[in-house]
Formats: sequence, structure tokens, C-alpha cells
Amino acid sequence: MTRPSLTAACTFSALLWAGTAYADISPADVVWEDEIAIPASLSGAPGDPVAGAAAFASRSAGNCLSCHENSAMPEHDFHGNVGPSLDGTGARWSEAELRGIVANAKRVFPDSMMPVFYNDNPADYIRPGDAYTARAYNPETFSTLLSAQQIEDIVAYLVTLTDW
Ligand code: HEC
Repeated sequence: MTRPSLTAACTFSALLWAGTAYADISPADVVWEDEIAIPASLSGAPGDPVAGAAAFASRSAGNCLSCHENSAMPEHDFHGNVGPSLDGTGARWSEAELRGIVANAKRVFPDSMMPVFYNDNPADYIRPGDAYTARAYNPETFSTLLSAQQIEDIVAYLVTLTDW
């Protein structure tokens, strides 16, 4: 009777330990390939598409639906049309390219309206803190709009969008 729970406990602590071994790549250290792709996971860990779908739709996280239509989410009203529909985006772009787009769309599409979700250098912003987040700039708390793991989760979700 105790054996399965002991096994579970050991697996759990092994997972915790593995979890602490992962380290985020800071925005300045991201390695790009061909100017538009980021081959390596930003968090060092794989993405979770279910968490990614939630972060994609959440107004306080990606808020991607404010600009993009996504037919795979009919339960959400008011899909925006500032950007292209994301139907089939997982077939148009590789995982590394999707990571590049979500991390820094302005690098992939110069002058894009799409926010840069993975940059914590205030010098790269015209008004750091104000744009998109509507929060005043505070050097103590200034951070990327999405965490490394949130981007991995969203990328893992985007690769599933292969239907047009
Ligand atoms: C403020 C509007 C805006 C927001 C918010 C936004 N995007 Fe975009 N996105 C764009 C625009 C505009 C483009 C087209 C590229 C360009 O600017 O030429 C684009 C392009 C893309 C593309 C490439 C589309 C394709 O298949 O060709 C992907 C993928 C994408 N966005 C994903 C996302 C994700 C994921 C989020 C949320 C984390 C997001 N976008 C949030 C405006 C936005």
C-alpha cells in the first residue's frame, strides 16, 4: 500500500529537482537564427499547450485575441482583426519561427503593431511601462510582458493551429 505513494513522492521530488535545474534565457542572451527564429526554449523546459491556450486568451497575459482571430476559440467573443487570422499559423511557421514572432514580433516584422513580449530593456521602448500594459514605468518592477515559460506555453499552443 505504501509503495505506490512512495514512488509517487520520489517522482514528484525528482520533478521538483528537475524544475529547479531549468533557467530562463534572459532577453539579451536569446540566440536568433536567420533573424526570425529562436531554436532553443526560452525557459529550458517544454511548453504546455493547455496553459498556452489560457495565456493566449487571457486579457492579463497574451491578450492575443484583441488583435487576432482564432477559429479554434469560438467560446471567446470579439476576436480582433488588427493582425492576420491565426488559423493555420502552425502550418505556416516552424516552432522556432513562432517563438521568434511571439518573443519579438518587431524583429521579425519591422514596424509591426504586435507588442514585443520578451524584452526587458527599457531603452528599447519609447515609453517603457505605458504602452500595452498601461502601467507606469518603474525600474524596480519592469519586466517582459510574458514570462519565458508563458511564451513556451503559447508557442506549444500555436503549433497545434494547423487547420485553415
Ligand atoms: C496589438 C495587436 C497585436 C497583438 C496584441 C498580438 N499580435 Fe500577433 N500580429 C499582429 C500583427 C499586426 C501581425 C502581422 C505582422 C505584421 O505586423 O506585419 C501579427 C502577426 C502574428 C503572427 C504571424 C501570423 C501568421 O500566421 O502569418 C503570429 C503567429 C502572431 N502574431 C501571434 C500572436 C500571439 C501568440 C499573440 C499574443 C501573445 C499576439 N500575436 C498578439 C498584431 C498583434
